Amino acid sequence: MSHQIDAGITQAGAASPSGPASPVDRTAVQKLPPALEVSGISKTFTRGRSSTRVLDNVSLTVEPQEFVSILGPSGCGKSTLFHIIGGLEAPDAGTVSMNGRSVTGQRGEISYMPQQPALFPWRSTLDNVLLAGELKGEPQAAARDNARRWLAKVGLGGFEKAYPHMLSGGMQQRAAFLRALLAPQELMLLDEPFSALDALTRSDMQRWLLELWEENRRSVLFITHNIEEALLLSSRIYVFSGRPGSVLHTVDIPFPRPRREEITDSPEFLQLKRQLAQWMREEQSKDRK
Ligand SMILES: Nc1ncnc2c1ncn2[C@@H]1O[C@H](COP(=O)(O)OP(=O)(O)OP(=O)(O)O)[C@@H](O)[C@H]1O
Ligand SMILES: [Mg+2]
Repeated sequence: MSHQIDAGITQAGAASPSGPASPVDRTAVQKLPPALEVSGISKTFTRGRSSTRVLDNVSLTVEPQEFVSILGPSGCGKSTLFHIIGGLEAPDAGTVSMNGRSVTGQRGEISYMPQQPALFPWRSTLDNVLLAGELKGEPQAAARDNARRWLAKVGLGGFEKAYPHMLSGGMQQRAAFLRALLAPQELMLLDEPFSALDALTRSDMQRWLLELWEENRRSVLFITHNIEEALLLSSRIYVFSGRPGSVLHTVDIPFPRPRREEITDSPEFLQLKRQLAQWMREEQSKDRK
């Protein structure tokens, strides 16, 4: 099943179609507007007399059910872009559309996991995870059962009633990740969701995310500093320049799905990894000049 879906997505998402496609398939896929279309976004923060230009004419697209990542040096405006997409900040220029509808400046359209886990301290782990569904008025009992099952899956079984201050940083991150995952919105924005996790847990979470996403495709925009993670998960990677952030490279990732960790040993994977690492190093070194 997922192979067939993947073939369609590849045609829609890739700049250069990678396989033979019938005209009928192509028309069917192209009818759907992008799940997210960010167009010409620029942003400058001004405080008193000093101003910082953070984003410069950023455009990117997430097709329906596509997994897209942003890689870029620290401080290049990635989280700011997420704030703009989520309607928490206003852009100076540019537009945000979802499913063909302009949503620039609107809140509540996306499921969002911020870089800081931002759990509510007065709510238990379970109640934090349930929050997004609650806001949408989902039936309580089924949502609770589902949340409990997921908490156990990410190693938080037994911590349902614990408050955030009783959890480690990595545990808080996993709870915040679940909250985003279980939220009903189609488009998920994940801002470095695994950065506070040890290598083993991180690899577990990547595997879960990959399996889960391949099972029930959501549209995902994912920020990470981890090149391997981006390559393993994404259909496309946008490489950002240093501040002000702009799209330097757009890379379509050719590996077929379902993907497994073994692809990280393939020569194609290693070659892409080297290329991306080199671009990242170049941008980071520009920042330090
Ligand atoms: N509300 C704000 N007011 C003023 N400056 C801000 C604000 N938010 C972000 N900035 C500045 O914008 C720049 C980009 O910040 P942002 O958090 O978007 O970077 P980032 O790419 O997410 O970095 P990292 O990879 O370290 O998370 C930084 O210089 C930051 O100081
Ligand atoms: Mg950030």
